[in-house]
Amino acid sequence: MTIELQSPLDMHVHFRQDAMLRNVAPLTAKHFAGAVVMPNLVSPIDSLERLLWYTDQVKQATEGELFDPYMTLFFRDYTREELVAAKPQIIGIKLYPAGATTNSDRGVSQIHTMFGVLALMEELDIPLLVHGESNGFVMDREKEFQVVYREIASTFPKLRIVMEHITTAEAIGLLDEYSNLYATVTPHHLLLTLDDVVGGLMDPHLFCKPIAKRPEDRQALLTAALNAHPKLMHGSDSAPHPITSKECPGCAAGIFTAPIILSLLAELFEKHNALDKLQSFVSNNAVRIYRLSPPPKTVVLTKSPMVIPANYHGVVPMWAGKTLPWSIADFG
Ligand code: NCD
Ligand code: ZN
Repeated sequence: MTIELQSPLDMHVHFRQDAMLRNVAPLTAKHFAGAVVMPNLVSPIDSLERLLWYTDQVKQATEGELFDPYMTLFFRDYTREELVAAKPQIIGIKLYPAGATTNSDRGVSQIHTMFGVLALMEELDIPLLVHGESNGFVMDREKEFQVVYREIASTFPKLRIVMEHITTAEAIGLLDEYSNLYATVTPHHLLLTLDDVVGGLMDPHLFCKPIAKRPEDRQALLTAALNAHPKLMHGSDSAPHPITSKECPGCAAGIFTAPIILSLLAELFEKHNALDKLQSFVSNNAVRIYRLSPPPKTVVLTKSPMVIPANYHGVVPMWAGKTLPWSIADFG
């Protein structure tokens, strides 16, 4: 038995820089035809100069693969000239509330002060990608951020807004309320609840932002993904951290899934008799929403078990040591 996917895409990934970039980017570039590369480096990608430098680094790290990196800028108060110059090089601009997650200290604290840039982005048709969490109680952060999504979506009705890595049933509800709101969801939020992270022995490798939520939230996300909800896209939020930053006090937030994403999704969609929806979830929806033409790449999965390695160059993947029924047989 095999599954054939045409040009699978990862609409949210962290590649980092230097040795980490060279180690992890090829793992995504092998299995995917394209990926949206996040700009939250230690010094964020927030100028055309930094963007061109980073694009070049990513291209070097993924050389030889049939793969398009879709680059992003870190949101700040850009001028019209800066936006016009950056537009051909980017798929969108990523907004982080200040302090919400890894390397977001230079994020936004007062959304109203940013309305000028949002108006320009709407006019220039540059999508806005958002890490949608308030600074409230950790389980309520996404829900509390809804007021911001509502305000931006209604004030800028032509601005395409992507709610990144949604984790709650409420977020799925919001998708249906505003025509200009879209979302990504991660494989891990389709599989985990808070119990998997801290319900038994604490598992730092399942700790990420936004934190996995309640069973009913996971169910709502899963139902939407399995039905290939037309406004929902696969974005793994694969976020590698060295083992020393994960297995320690003050564990960094981020789950590393890049090399196992398609195996995880094949198992999940098969289990729920929804394999016919996988193509839309991992590619077609994103192609339509972002108007992409990814390189033609066929990825074939077969039902032969894959044991998840203990680590990849010192980065521990989700569910290390576990066996998954599907593995990648061929790509190209
Ligand atoms: C991401 C990271 O490590 O850069 N961490 C995470 O837990 N998801 C940042 C992010 O996307 O929030
Ligand atoms: Zn992320």
